[in-house]
Amino acid sequence: MRRANGGGNAYTESMKVSAFYFSGTGNTKFIVQKICGTLSRSCRTEMLDITLAGADPVRAMEEADLILLAFPIYGGAPPIPMRQFLYRYAEQLRGKKVAIAETQLFFSGDGAASLGRTVEKFGGKVIAAEHFNMPNNLSDCKAFPVKNGRELRKTLLIAQKRAERFADALLKGKGHRRGFSPVSHAVGYYCQRKYWRRGEQDKRGRLRIDPSLCVGCRLCVKNCPVSNLTASDGRAVPHGECVLCYRCVNLCPKRAITLIGSDPPRVQYRGPFQS
Ligand SMILES: Cc1cc2nc3c(=O)[nH]c(=O)nc-3n(C[C@H](O)[C@H](O)[C@H](O)COP(=O)(O)O)c2cc1C
Ligand code: SF4
Ligand code: SF4
Repeated sequence: MRRANGGGNAYTESMKVSAFYFSGTGNTKFIVQKICGTLSRSCRTEMLDITLAGADPVRAMEEADLILLAFPIYGGAPPIPMRQFLYRYAEQLRGKKVAIAETQLFFSGDGAASLGRTVEKFGGKVIAAEHFNMPNNLSDCKAFPVKNGRELRKTLLIAQKRAERFADALLKGKGHRRGFSPVSHAVGYYCQRKYWRRGEQDKRGRLRIDPSLCVGCRLCVKNCPVSNLTASDGRAVPHGECVLCYRCVNLCPKRAITLIGSDPPRVQYRGPFQS
C-alpha cells in the first residue's frame, strides 16, 4: 500500500485515476500514456480523449479518486476544447483531487496553473501540476523547425522520464504545483496569454486549404477533432470552428493546409507514435 497525495488516502488497486486529455498531434496523449503506465502499477487508470464521442465523463469523474487533466499549451492558454470541457463538467470537479499535465514546446510561464485556477474556482483541489517540453508541431511557422526521427526520440525519452517521475511523485504524495507562483502567473499572462487570447478568434478563421493542392482524400475531414472540415466538390472546406490543434496541417498528404504561418509546411510533424 502507498500513501497518496494531499491528505492521507492510500492508492490501492481498488482506487482509480481518470485521465482526461486533449491532444492535437499526439504529444499530450504520449505523456498521459506514460503517466498512466506508471500509476497503473498501484491503482486503476482510465484514459479518455475529451473529443471522442462514446466516453462517459460524468461516470469517469464520479468514480475517480484522482482526476488527471492534460493538454497542450497554445500561446500560454489551454486549448478551447479543454476550457469548454472544464466548464461543462464543473459540477463533477467539486471536492475532487486533480493533477494537471501541460505539454509545450519550451515555455508557458503558468500553463498548468492557467487551467488549475479554474479547477480550484469550481471546488477541485490541484495537488500537482507539471509542464512537459515536447517536439514542435507548429510546422508552418519557419521560426520553429520540426524534428522527426532521432532528435524526436531524444526529446521523447526525456519527456517520458519526467512523466514517470511525475507519476511516482503523485503516488508518494510529493506532487509539485508548477506555475502557481505569482511570478509565473504574471509571466504567463503578460508575455503570452493576454495577446494570444485577444487574437484567438481571428486565428480560428485563418485556416487555409490550397484548392490547387487538395485532392479531396478526406483525411483531414475524418481526423479533425471538432468536425471543422467537410468535403465539398472533391475538396476540403473549413467552417471557422478550428481549435488550432494542427492535426490536419501535419496529416495532409499534399501539404495543402496552412494555419498560423504564411506557407504550408515544408516538413510535417509526424508525432510521437511514428514508427
Ligand atoms: C497553436 C499552437 C500554439 C502553441 N503555443 C505554444 C506556446 O505558447 N508555448 C510553447 O512552449 N509551445 C507552444 N505550442 C507547442 C505545443 O504546445 C506542443 O508542441 C504540444 O506538445 C503539442 O501537443 P499535442 O501534440 O498533444 O497537440 C503551440 C502549438 C500550437 C499548435
Ligand atoms: S487531407 Fe489534404 S488533400 Fe486530403 S482532403 Fe484534406 S486538404 Fe485535401
Ligand atoms: S481544422 Fe485542422 S487544425 Fe483546426 S481543429 Fe480541425 S484538425 Fe485541428
